[in-house]
Amino acid sequence: MLEGKFFYKGEFLEAGIEIEDGRIKNIGKLIKGKKIRGLILPAGIDVHVHFRDFEEKHKETIETGSLSALHGGVCLVVDQPNTKPLIDNDKTYFFRMEIAKKKSYVDYSLNLALTNKNSGEIKEIIKRISKKYYLPAIGEVFLEHSNEELEIGYENLSKISLLWRVSLHAEDPSFVKNGVPNFLYRPKEAEIIAVRRCIEISDFHFCHLSTVEAVKAVEKTDSSFEVTPHHLLLSIEDFERLKNFVNVNPPLRERSEVEWLLKNFSKIQILASDHAPHLSEEKNLGIPGFPGVETMYPIFVKLATLGIVNFRDLVEKIAVNPAKIFGFRDYGEIEIGKFANFAVFDLKDSRKIKAEELHSKCFWTPYEGFEAIFPKKVFLRGEEVLESNVRGGKVILSDFSSRL
Ligand code: DOR
Ligand code: ZN
Repeated sequence: MLEGKFFYKGEFLEAGIEIEDGRIKNIGKLIKGKKIRGLILPAGIDVHVHFRDFEEKHKETIETGSLSALHGGVCLVVDQPNTKPLIDNDKTYFFRMEIAKKKSYVDYSLNLALTNKNSGEIKEIIKRISKKYYLPAIGEVFLEHSNEELEIGYENLSKISLLWRVSLHAEDPSFVKNGVPNFLYRPKEAEIIAVRRCIEISDFHFCHLSTVEAVKAVEKTDSSFEVTPHHLLLSIEDFERLKNFVNVNPPLRERSEVEWLLKNFSKIQILASDHAPHLSEEKNLGIPGFPGVETMYPIFVKLATLGIVNFRDLVEKIAVNPAKIFGFRDYGEIEIGKFANFAVFDLKDSRKIKAEELHSKCFWTPYEGFEAIFPKKVFLRGEEVLESNVRGGKVILSDFSSRL
């Protein structure tokens, strides 16, 4: 039993929460329990992370990525399949889920890759996976990738899109070249044209939209979409600060684009980090990707205290909508019957982000020096699994694997 101020049905409520077997059993003013100081929000869901592992353990592992998620108040991640080797078959999928069972600090879910090579048998692969696990989506599907094995052409895509939720990286190959800074080589049109073509084909989940026109086009359809913190907060003007580290796909955009997206935060369906860790040496060579799973909730809680976004919108984009859109029925809200997954924020505890205090293996962040409010405590299925202090926090040892 807990008592405190928490987010309930779109508003703050001071009351008690009764928890049984990891789920919320009851909510009410008369319920008494351990008093929690700070604001209790539903723990976040990040539907777009790249936790690497396998042959890219030097960049990130499921263990380090999920520890980073936990410290960022995220209780559930959806990992992307562009690993080495690729997760384009059920065998590799099962192997990875077994690793996650042993190593992940938060609840872990995994997408399946769709490529020109496996598109013919994708139906059977989905069937075999679905017997054992809940498959959130196929993708991040790439129309273009430096590793051609990962690509899918529009034609193959159109055959698959009715089968399952397809999570799409929409940048049209004919507009895409490589270079640093990549915003000079991957114009807005790459995204806008790909989105326009794809919504003619079917409904998709569009990953990391970064342009006003793409958001406006997708809004009119039954497709869903996400926007990343970096496309809401950083622009091409950050090239001066980030230098060779500036590359991310889709690229950073002009300030006017970014300002429109942030101003229209209420229209965005899902906030997702596209946590894509690479080491400094790799970033220096122009490899695209930003880490972000640990800083997403903390930066946006800070923005909520400043009135730049509001708490209701934030909770909707970071917890309620990802759960609804991706079908995670037990997550996303502080509500009777759902898992008791909470992130507790002390709104007075604002501090500057320092890469050295984060938990990703990549040891850098595009948000160095940004003010953020990290969660003071995290509860997963009713269990207090993280207690944080100014130095970065302590994970309270518990049997994580038993919860999965
Ligand atoms: O910048 C990116 N990095 N964008 C992507 O779509 C993939 C990602 C990665 O896996 O590094
Ligand atoms: Zn991605």
